[in-house]
Amino acid sequence: MTSLKNLQSQHNELKKKITEHDYKYYVLDQPSISDYEYDKLFDELKKLEQENPELDLSDSPTQRVGGRPIDKFEKVPHRSPMVSLSNTYSKEELVEFDVRVKKFLQSQVMINELSYFVEPKYDGLAIELIYENGIFVQGLTRGDGVVGEDVTHNLKTIKSIPLRLKGDVPKLIEIRGEVLIYKKDFLAMNEQQDELGLQTFANPRNAASGTIRQLDPKVSASRPLRFIAHGIGTVEGLEIKYQSDIFNYFLNWGVQTSPPSISKKCLTIDEAIVCYEDILKIRHELPFEIDGVVIKVDSKKLQDDLGMVARNPRWATAAKYPPERAQTTIENIFVQVGRTGVLTPVAQMIPVKVSGVTITNATLHNEEEIHRKDIRIGDHVWVQRAGDVIPEIVEVIFEKRPQNTTQFHMPKKCPSCGRSVDKSVDEVAYRCLNMFCSSVLKESLKHFASRKAMNIDKVGDKLIEELVDHELVKKFSDLYRLTKDQLIQLDRKGDKSVQNILTSIEKSKHTTLTKLIYSLGIRFVGEQTSKNLANHFKDINSFLKVRSIEELTQLEDIGPKVAESILKSLNSEEFRNEVLSLIQQGVKIEEMSTVKTSSTVLNGITFLITGTLPIKRNEAEEIIEQNGGKILSGVSKKLNYLIAGEEAGSKLEKANSLEVKVISWDIFQEMLKKQNF
Ligand code: IVH
Repeated sequence: MTSLKNLQSQHNELKKKITEHDYKYYVLDQPSISDYEYDKLFDELKKLEQENPELDLSDSPTQRVGGRPIDKFEKVPHRSPMVSLSNTYSKEELVEFDVRVKKFLQSQVMINELSYFVEPKYDGLAIELIYENGIFVQGLTRGDGVVGEDVTHNLKTIKSIPLRLKGDVPKLIEIRGEVLIYKKDFLAMNEQQDELGLQTFANPRNAASGTIRQLDPKVSASRPLRFIAHGIGTVEGLEIKYQSDIFNYFLNWGVQTSPPSISKKCLTIDEAIVCYEDILKIRHELPFEIDGVVIKVDSKKLQDDLGMVARNPRWATAAKYPPERAQTTIENIFVQVGRTGVLTPVAQMIPVKVSGVTITNATLHNEEEIHRKDIRIGDHVWVQRAGDVIPEIVEVIFEKRPQNTTQFHMPKKCPSCGRSVDKSVDEVAYRCLNMFCSSVLKESLKHFASRKAMNIDKVGDKLIEELVDHELVKKFSDLYRLTKDQLIQLDRKGDKSVQNILTSIEKSKHTTLTKLIYSLGIRFVGEQTSKNLANHFKDINSFLKVRSIEELTQLEDIGPKVAESILKSLNSEEFRNEVLSLIQQGVKIEEMSTVKTSSTVLNGITFLITGTLPIKRNEAEEIIEQNGGKILSGVSKKLNYLIAGEEAGSKLEKANSLEVKVISWDIFQEMLKKQNF
């Protein structure tokens, strides 16, 4: 009797835990444990229920196909359920999977037909795209597997989702796959969130799923989402015999799918295991995150014969990779002061290697996060790299906690300038509000000199620190007052290096209004907002004169919060004087993207861009198109000009061989000004 009671309470405990994690993952988009830990808990629950059929399953998470649907979107039933996969964690389990498949198939004829298809298991958000006669008509999330949410409006903003399939198309096809964000795009996106003073995302998967769950499609349009297809749901008007054939269809229809280098047909489970190991070896070189591979029976007929067991198909399994994490010890927690004065606690650890990279520091975000995870100085912890890049502390290993750990408290004074720190009630962050704090100044200058801002390439982070420490620079405009003698004083700076620094400062004076506004580091004003402001105000004086919230909020993408922050800067005499000082020091605005916004100068002229330009490629293309030019997709005799930036490759060679004119971005700008094409 007691043992049944114990069993029930163990069962209830597990159900409660998993339900809570489901809520955090699916509803809040803030998982507090890794997928690996979740899978382990889930498997534990499944095992307990299988071994004890007397347990009450009515409210068990095992009875659900997927996550909890979100209320805000229209619910749409899937024509065929979007099931999930069983997980395996070792080679032995894969061999067992193969044995199970063969046992179920029984007849030798069928077993002879058996082969597998192996491809990565993408760490994204499961999505179904419905195409009727080749036209994308609706896109759904998995939801609970039976009923999904209609997120068509957001999916239509994803460039890799074709709105119309190419070539021969069936009457109906449901294409299934993952919406995800590439690792490099994720880093850039987080950097931007940071710049805007907004919360950064924990990993690419969370960022993708948080974006798809937004009501306003402008949000997804501004984020670098992609779609990779890996399967199909209901099909009408086409017979597909093999999983491996689907991939050729995807390619013909123009749908992105697993690259052929990492998706393979395998005749035996041993071959599939080799494939699993090969992909593991190159896992970190892939542009996206994967958490394993999926092994699928290749023949559709055999898939149908094998059918389902419980909530998973018998014909496929996810072979999960162990999470790459390592143990280390926190030696100290120090506090960094950012550009907006936000104090961020950072853990300093005994250096440890995780997926080939040595980790020493990891941000702890804020004090609440430290207390939630109960992290103390001296603790043994598990670390991993979120999004394969950002080091993070997963959890404390409490069993190993030493006696003498020290709890961390946010300092009352700024560690850089000593001024009392401020914490507003509606924010978790502590801030140093001292405008002259040297850390704030250093970070603001780093932003000012960065590539997308004033682009002073020879003034790097280290030099900025030295300049501030030697009190040679106290505000932005001081950079333009630096002299050769002052720079020579600095450690190990020779004549040549000083000259390079001065030349790069001088060169940066030629800028655009967008870049100037962006470089000023007004809170919540990122690149796009700066561009909108520049396009509207056209010159710096008109911008400096704005005093009303309404004038700002009528602009695209500027809400009251951003407008208020802009006005706060513009109302400050010190800020305005500093901008005027920059102009006095010779900063000159070349109204490239604003004055020339629309003309017909380039009508009938074709262009193609290759290599890295001083501005973003899409901005450059926009300028060309706004002036009537056409962008071609490749180098051919039809191309009039190839604009070549740094590190131009094969396109440049081809253009030379076809004798297509090759020009630099600078020359293009000159020609545009003179209308001389
Ligand atoms: S096939 C019945 N292939 O993993 C088989 N799924 O638990 C259906 N996933 O959310 C899935 N990469 O969206 C398949 N290459 C891949 C996948 C993949 C990621 C996701 C899938 C689902 C989960 C399965």
